Amino acid sequence: MSARSPAPGSDGGFATVLVVDFGAQYAQLIARRVREAHVYSEIVAPTITAAEVVAKNPAGIIFSGGPASVHVDGAPRIDPGVYELGIPILGICYGAQLIAQQNGGLVDRTDRGEYGRTTMTLDSDGGSLLGGTPGEQPVWMSHFDAIVKPPVGVTATASTPDAPVAAFENSEQKLYGVQFHPEVIHTPHGQHVIERFLREACGADASWTMASIIDTAVEQIRDQVGDNRVLCGLSGGVDSAVAAALVHKAIGHQLTCVFVDTGLMRLNEGEQVVETFDRHLGLELIHVKAADRFFTALSGIIEPEAKRKAIGELFIRIFEDAKAQVDGAGFLVQGTLYPDVIESGSEHAATIKSHHNVGGLPDDMEFDLIEPLRSLFKDEVRQLGSELGLPDEIVQRQPFPGPGLGVRIIGEVTADKVATLQHADAIVREELKIAGLEREIWQSFAVLPDIRSVGVMGDERTYGYPIIIRAVTSEDAMTADWARIPYDVLETMSSRVINEVAGVNRVAYDITSKPPGTIEWE
Ligand code: XMP
Repeated sequence: MSARSPAPGSDGGFATVLVVDFGAQYAQLIARRVREAHVYSEIVAPTITAAEVVAKNPAGIIFSGGPASVHVDGAPRIDPGVYELGIPILGICYGAQLIAQQNGGLVDRTDRGEYGRTTMTLDSDGGSLLGGTPGEQPVWMSHFDAIVKPPVGVTATASTPDAPVAAFENSEQKLYGVQFHPEVIHTPHGQHVIERFLREACGADASWTMASIIDTAVEQIRDQVGDNRVLCGLSGGVDSAVAAALVHKAIGHQLTCVFVDTGLMRLNEGEQVVETFDRHLGLELIHVKAADRFFTALSGIIEPEAKRKAIGELFIRIFEDAKAQVDGAGFLVQGTLYPDVIESGSEHAATIKSHHNVGGLPDDMEFDLIEPLRSLFKDEVRQLGSELGLPDEIVQRQPFPGPGLGVRIIGEVTADKVATLQHADAIVREELKIAGLEREIWQSFAVLPDIRSVGVMGDERTYGYPIIIRAVTSEDAMTADWARIPYDVLETMSSRVINEVAGVNRVAYDITSKPPGTIEWE
């Protein structure tokens, strides 16, 4: 791929707040809270220089918490020049301690840290951040060091029994700090604090809305593309669907989508994607029905990585053929999301599974990339999809792996096994939906292993396949827990699968978390 476009949204004229990540698990959460207040936020590393900050022209900066102590050599710090820029800064926990330490305040070790819920008392009116909230209020703390003296010229605005300076501010110096975590739900007035900082200190209004994101992205995509042709691979998943709908809104018939029906999708999924994009959105679609080619390519292959490779390679060949049909397409749409951008650069020690998706196209396919979702989190992408008029069946869809049911059938993949699994999988998901559990479960599906067992049905011996139900809760798929589905729901799934799916005589429930398991079986 030859070039990458800037991320629409990041330079679209919205007020931007930078969140400096000092290594806390909370930086992403802070960025999200800022966005919930309809202000665009971007996560940056502590190594950012004052000049780099200026280049980003932010309305404000938030320093996150972090695991380090400001007293330790090598603890992350910020370029002192950042304090000279006149940009409002809010420090949270470690971030507040760092502001104090770098600006003539004092951070000390307390005898015992302060962890969990604490009652905070406001000094006088609580200043501009805490003003209007109760004089005594619960806050969530997690610190060992404590600020005992705020930065020079800055006033303490609240305290707790173990944090003499639980909050400080000086609106002229534009320095603000809170020892507690306003971004967590356990701090009931936390969002108020964040919003006050955004509106009062930074002067950032609530203009980063889905409608304005769309308008900006549309303009940027038009500028980028001119009158060129653009290709987009639709996988059936949320990200590529929303990216396609957005680009289509911008450039209409200059966009051609390619949907490769591998035959490895869930029941009726292929038809649903085509129906939505072709008929409802009137989008130009090349629908490649390639099930037979995939089954041939997978014939005799048992090893999971070999399967993934075979699927990925065939996908590329088909995509190349489609590209040849679209004369002169020089751009490719990718559904890259913000977490992928944040994580890129982090080195993974071992390849657990070689992920396949449309992004896995080879380098020698010359394309410039259009990545209109590069600055968005997953739930923001769903909201954007709804705003663009995509139906819930697409927008609320659970994640689905590129190689599809190919990695949920253990052993050789055949058309018959796919039909069996599609049927069982549809029952599992339908019952979860009936039980109202669909939204709280990250992913739920059926797996067809390559073993058979003996059973008895209607006084007859059976020798059939088991179906394994997999359902997990997760935040980001990096870790996951098996979902505690009520027994009666499992029972209904089990009896329906056995009664309705030919060749299946047993159902098991996978109670493995990740790690040590993975979400998919292959
Ligand atoms: P694992 O099985 O590694 O899966 O715990 C984590 C998440 O990734 C999805 N997954 C994939 N997604 N291409 C994708 O786009 C792939 O090849 C792929 N393999 C796994 C999986 O469904 C889960 O959400």
